[in-house]
Amino acid sequence: MVQVTTPRPPDTGNRRWLVTGCCGFIGTNFVRMLLADPQGPAILNLDCLTYAGRRENLAEFESNPRYHFSLGDIGNAEAVETAFASFRPHAVVHFAAESHVDRSIGDASQFIHTNVGGTQILLDAARRHSVERFLQVSTDEVYGSLGPTGSFREDSPMAPNSPYAASKAGGDLLARAAGKTHGLPVIITRGSNNYGPYQFPEKLIPLAIANASADRTIPLYGTGLNVRNWIHVEDHCRGIVAALERGEPGRVYNLGGADEVANLDLLEQLLSIMGKSTTLIRRVADRPGHDMRYSLDSTRAHQELGWRPRIRLSEGMAATVEWYQRNAAWLEKAHDTSFQDYYRQQYESRLAGEGKPVTAKA
Ligand code: NAD
Ligand code: DAU
Repeated sequence: MVQVTTPRPPDTGNRRWLVTGCCGFIGTNFVRMLLADPQGPAILNLDCLTYAGRRENLAEFESNPRYHFSLGDIGNAEAVETAFASFRPHAVVHFAAESHVDRSIGDASQFIHTNVGGTQILLDAARRHSVERFLQVSTDEVYGSLGPTGSFREDSPMAPNSPYAASKAGGDLLARAAGKTHGLPVIITRGSNNYGPYQFPEKLIPLAIANASADRTIPLYGTGLNVRNWIHVEDHCRGIVAALERGEPGRVYNLGGADEVANLDLLEQLLSIMGKSTTLIRRVADRPGHDMRYSLDSTRAHQELGWRPRIRLSEGMAATVEWYQRNAAWLEKAHDTSFQDYYRQQYESRLAGEGKPVTAKA
């Protein structure tokens, strides 16, 4: 069943952006950033509130005339049409997605529904309503995996390795096709691994913070030598605005962070910030199809958008730890029974069967 809350009439004088999936991690940070700017747009947040979406992340803004929430599934054409017809957006920023690689390995169907089918439904509505810009928020994972050297550029071939990455690549290709075939002004951004406030604790950094805070073990997949290119969510959000406002339709922009770190090193840094022992780290069975290394060459975004990441990992991670410590109730709520079931299913046999404390690098 789909419930659609009719948005209040839009403000006059402001630009209107329909933004999908803002009750999730990056969308929440994006809306907070836009509303802090008095010159920013009016926003309609279209979100169906999956396990990863929390309406209360933005509840304090529901009386703000520039923020509107609409409960709806982007995979439902009727709900999407209602949102477009009532809000009449100038631009669309499309965050809504199933976002967790491990869940896509268990069952990819919802990833196809939202990341592929939902994206096409939004593109069709954007075309019918002649939006001026459609920004598809994508990921470095569409490029696949790197060896020890080199970086992905926007013209690197797509070679996704997980069902999640393949579904995002599908969305990107449909967005590209809507631009080429129908002239929809589409821009695609590909961000690297985000971290910061409001991230759901299935992802490595908040999972590690939550477990270490409670002196629980932290599962590290495989050798722990897989490298991720970390970007603070605020830097990513600034990059998305820069691409929307200054990017060229039809173009892709990589938005990579400044820090490339192996997972084991990352956990060691995090535990040192928290004053916890690295003996909490347990090596467990690897993720199937686990990409070895991501690295983004973001020269195009630096040169054409005037954007660069500003927050280094050491500083951003300390602030993130502090945020989760100050917001223990938020984290507690995320650890509901459905999360506990997920955690058991994902980790119990791995931790019981083979988890060993990590004493030295593999
Ligand atoms: P998230 O899982 O935290 O949030 C996803 C949001 O989308 C939730 O609010 C959820 O309720 C909503 N949603 C899911 N399916 C929906 C549907 N069918 N209809 C309407 N709403 C739906 O995700 P995130 O980490 O904030 O990622 C946001 C976007 O950024 C995704 O497109 C993801 O692929 C991309 N991205 C994420 C990262 C990262 O490191 N997290 C990096 C690069 C790109
Ligand atoms: O690169 C961008 C992508 O980053 C986004 O597109 C995805 O939406 C986002 O989930 C993230 O994907 P990752 O798979 O890289 O993130 P995750 O936090 O799941 O894992 C980060 C690394 O840590 C990865 O190498 C797997 C490893 N890992 C993860 C978990 C959850 C562990 O070692 N143990 C864990 O328990």
